[in-house]
Amino acid sequence: MDLQKLTKTVQELFDNGKGILAMDESTQNCNKRFAKLGIKETEESRRAWRELIITTPNLAECIGGLILYDETIRQKTALAHNASSARNALRSDADGHNDAGGDGVPFIKVITDVGIILGIKVDEGLKDMDGHPNEKVTKGLDGLAGRLKEYYDMGARFAKWRAAFTIGSNIPTQDCINENAKILAEYALVCQEAGIVPIVEPEVLMDGSHTIEKCQQVTKEVLQTVFKELTVKGVVFEGMILKPNMVVPGLACPAQNSVDEVADATVKLLIEVVPANVAGVAFLSGGQSSELASAHLSAMNANYKKRLPWPVTFSYSRAIQYPALEIWQGNDKNIVAAQKSLYHRAKLNQAACRGEYNIEMEK
Ligand code: G3H
Repeated sequence: MDLQKLTKTVQELFDNGKGILAMDESTQNCNKRFAKLGIKETEESRRAWRELIITTPNLAECIGGLILYDETIRQKTALAHNASSARNALRSDADGHNDAGGDGVPFIKVITDVGIILGIKVDEGLKDMDGHPNEKVTKGLDGLAGRLKEYYDMGARFAKWRAAFTIGSNIPTQDCINENAKILAEYALVCQEAGIVPIVEPEVLMDGSHTIEKCQQVTKEVLQTVFKELTVKGVVFEGMILKPNMVVPGLACPAQNSVDEVADATVKLLIEVVPANVAGVAFLSGGQSSELASAHLSAMNANYKKRLPWPVTFSYSRAIQYPALEIWQGNDKNIVAAQKSLYHRAKLNQAACRGEYNIEMEK
C-alpha cells in the first residue's frame, strides 16, 4: 500500500479550505430529483446537468474533488468547451488514450484539466437485509478490485461507499450495524490497496421524529463499530476520509436545535469516537437546507478551531446542487444563472471550512 500517495490525495482534496462536491446520485435518485422539478428523466438530462456542474467557472477554487457515478465518468460534454480542450481531446483520441470521439470532451478531462480530483461512487446501492425488516445493507463488494483498477486507470483517486441506517422502533439493530461496518471496512482496504482513498460513509438518516440525543446515541454506536472493523481489517486511518452525518434531530422532530447545539453535539461525539489520525472528516448534508449545512459546518470550525485533529469539511450533494438545480429546470437558458448559484454555494462552504460563513453572505 502506498500511504504517501493516499495522504497526498487527501491533502490536495482539502487544501485551502476546499471540500468535495458529490454528484454521484444513482440514475434512480437523480431521476427522482428531476421528476420533482419536471425535468426530463433521461440519460441526456443527467448528462447535461452534470456537464453544467463540471463546467462551472472557477469551481476548482473551492472544490477539491468531485464524486461521479459510473454513468457520468464515461460521459462527454455536448460540445468542446474551449479550443484547447477540444484540441487536447482530439489528440487523446488520436493517441488512443481515451474514447472521446464526437464533438465533446470527456468529463474526466474537463475535471482533471482544472485541477479537481476525480472520485467515484463504487457501492451498488442498498438491499433489504435478510431477516431484518426495514433495514438495509450495501451491495457492491463482488468484483470491486477489478472495478477500482478500471477507475484508477481512468484517473480516479478517491472513492465513496455509503451505508445507511434508519432510526425507528428497535432499529438500527446491532446486527445491521455490524454487517455494514464489516462491509465498509472490506471496501476501504481494497481501495487503499488499489491506490484509491476510501471515503467511508456510514449515514444515520434524518428521516423521522427522533431527538438530537437519539441521533447522537445511534451515531456513536455506528461510528464505534465502524472504527472497530476498520481496525480489525488493517485499514490505515491516515489514508481514509470519514463522511459522517451531523448530529441533528430528525426532520419531523418538533424540537429543532440551534446551530451551536448541533455543532457542539457533533464535534463532541466525533472527538470521542474518531481516531485523531483519520486524514479528514467530510460531512454529508443529509437533507439539511443549504443554509443550515453551511452554518453548522462553519460553527464547528469556528467554535472548535484549536481542538479539531482532522480537517473538518464538506462532501455535500443536495446542499450544493439543489438551489442550482431549481434554477436550471432543464433549460439551457438558465445555465449561467445555475452555475453562478452552484459556485456561490461551493464558495460559502469553503468559508464554512474556515469558520467564516455567516448568513449575510447569502445575499
Ligand atoms: O451519499 C450521499 C451523498 O454523497 C451526500 O449527499 O449531501 O445530499 O446528503 P447529501
